[in-house]
Amino acid sequence: MTAATTLRNPVFCALDTPDVGRATALAAKVADAVGGVKLGLEFFSANGPPGVAQVQKASDLPIFLDLKFHDIPNTVAGAVRAVTAQVRPFMMTLMASGGRAMLEAAARAAADVARERNVPRPLLLGVTVLTSLDGTDLAATGVAGAVADQVRRLAELAKLSGLDGVVCSPLEAAQLRRDLGPGFKLVTPGVRPTWAEAGDQKRVSTPREAVAAGADYLVIGRPISEADDPAAAAQRIALELGL
Ligand code: C5P
Repeated sequence: MTAATTLRNPVFCALDTPDVGRATALAAKVADAVGGVKLGLEFFSANGPPGVAQVQKASDLPIFLDLKFHDIPNTVAGAVRAVTAQVRPFMMTLMASGGRAMLEAAARAAADVARERNVPRPLLLGVTVLTSLDGTDLAATGVAGAVADQVRRLAELAKLSGLDGVVCSPLEAAQLRRDLGPGFKLVTPGVRPTWAEAGDQKRVSTPREAVAAGADYLVIGRPISEADDPAAAAQRIALELGL
């Protein structure tokens, strides 16, 4: 089967907790006002595929599985096969720095298992440079030059290798959209409605700005999860997006 189609609501609420009870409760609360939920390494390490299934059951929402795979091609292909078969994520992440052979093996594995099992193929997203790294950190790993150049290089590699898109800052989205053209998915964390605290996010855009810059999907965590009324906060974001 081909990759899943575009969602009406672009917002994925990040469920950043290892606690399956908290995750399912939050997912159920926001289910009517978001497009999907994001589960990451912390949740998956604690709860595995059965935990993801519980969140799916509680909310009936598409899952963004953010595990940032990075290993030899054969191992990553196996991991992609396993999660595509068991978890059926709407989209998932790999480290673009894993190289072309790893990314191509992942893309083939996702397509193969989706066809064999007649399930939708997950969208595969490359993670370029982690926002926790600056130029000095990159230089210490042997990568010289500007962070923005490395982001662009890795995004182009992801596209060349058959991935569907990348995760990027909303402030990088407009340039990447110009560089990589239409159709390549851009998924942005670092999104803050004007009424929410920035928290530890330093470079933020509002949901409307992120979409205007070319983002296809927005990852929003604490402005929803830490609101007194998460469902109302998610509704307010949907309204701001004209949904
Ligand atoms: O609470 P907040 O809206 O900041 O959550 C954003 C989510 O996106 C978190 O799950 C965070 O780990 C993730 N993320 C991020 N910045 C990146 C990549 C992922 O904030 N560069």
